[in-house]
Amino acid sequence: MTKINDEGTTLECGRAFERCRQALMKKFPYARNAPFVMTVKPGKYAWCSCGQSKKQPFCDGSHSDTGMYPVLTVIEEEKQVAWCGCKCSEHAPFCDGMHKSLG
Ligand code: FES
Repeated sequence: MTKINDEGTTLECGRAFERCRQALMKKFPYARNAPFVMTVKPGKYAWCSCGQSKKQPFCDGSHSDTGMYPVLTVIEEEKQVAWCGCKCSEHAPFCDGMHKSLG
């Protein structure tokens, strides 16, 4: 998954927790250290991966100059979803608990 390093450059970071935490604080202004839990209806969803959207956890087009893109997913049936809020999940767009490692 693409992340942003301390200088704002995108990279494949694997588990670079510190970089990811700093990115969360500096580069992902609308990310948060918790999932967005909500009941969603069937349909197509565009999860914001860049942390710039003001309509979290969904894309509002603000990624245009970040080099990042939304993650598209289809929800087949109405259910409760925990969308990743920290933007560091390895199972994006869904929370995998990674935010607990970010401090
Ligand atoms: S606004 Fe963040 S991916 Fe589109």
